Amino acid sequence: MPTCLLPFSLTRHSKLACASFQRLRFHTVGSRCKNRTGTEHLWLMRHLKDPFVKAARVESYRCRSAFKLLEMNEKHQILRPGLRVLDCGAAPGAWSQVAVQSVNAAGTDPCSPVGFVLGVDLLHIFPLEGATFLCPADVTDPRTLQRILELLPGGRADVILSDMAPNATGIRNLDHDRLISLCLSLLGMAPDILHPGGTFLCKTWAGSQSHQLRRRLMEDFQDTKIVKPEASRKESSEVYFLATQYGRRKRSVKQ
Ligand SMILES: C[S@@+](CC[C@H](N)C(=O)[O-])C[C@H]1O[C@@H](n2cnc3c(N)ncnc32)[C@H](O)[C@@H]1O
Repeated sequence: MPTCLLPFSLTRHSKLACASFQRLRFHTVGSRCKNRTGTEHLWLMRHLKDPFVKAARVESYRCRSAFKLLEMNEKHQILRPGLRVLDCGAAPGAWSQVAVQSVNAAGTDPCSPVGFVLGVDLLHIFPLEGATFLCPADVTDPRTLQRILELLPGGRADVILSDMAPNATGIRNLDHDRLISLCLSLLGMAPDILHPGGTFLCKTWAGSQSHQLRRRLMEDFQDTKIVKPEASRKESSEVYFLATQYGRRKRSVKQ
């Protein structure tokens, strides 16, 4: 599918300078082509045909997941100039690229307030203008929380994003449980980090424990939605929870 047929406008989003990062990434994919198994071959074929992969290359995003956040942001107005964003599980940095643009963290629009983006990941992240990266760092480690509080202006974020995913074991229930407990750990840090009225967006893999996370979000936020962006592969159980208006819950949550 050509880029112009993607379900939402890509051209509105200005290109970001990370061409050398892209070259490095594609070189790495190419060099792994030899001796691959059938499954790896299928993955590679799907990857190379994927319109969002192609669009990410054209738009200089570090990976296709940028389009998930772009779409969710376009529909739900999560980010705007001046906001402070904590991006958890930020590597390789595509969501941070979108966040930097949307909150004007690099100050490229002199007429809008300047926001702040802090990305955290277990993995190294290549530098990005307008973003601060804390890596390698485990979000669940109390020392990371301390550093996050020191780095965020005023010690608070207006938006917590989490696209975190533990290394998948392939055992669906186990992977689901691990991701839910990662999201719950992050949510447990919200009282320290998240500004009242703030937003929490996190990735989950749908499963039997999703209701636990949903309940917790409904207790703490005024509104909680489940969102599946088009860029999220249909065959994947991946869904996002979007919770808004932190600390301003009106209704009671049934037991
Ligand atoms: C799907 S990738 C994120 C992609 C990213 N949103 C982007 O657009 O570039 C998931 C990331 O979560 C990170 N992660 C998993 N567990 C983590 C943890 N406990 N602390 C920090 N990062 C974690 C992984 O290292 C991985 O880089």
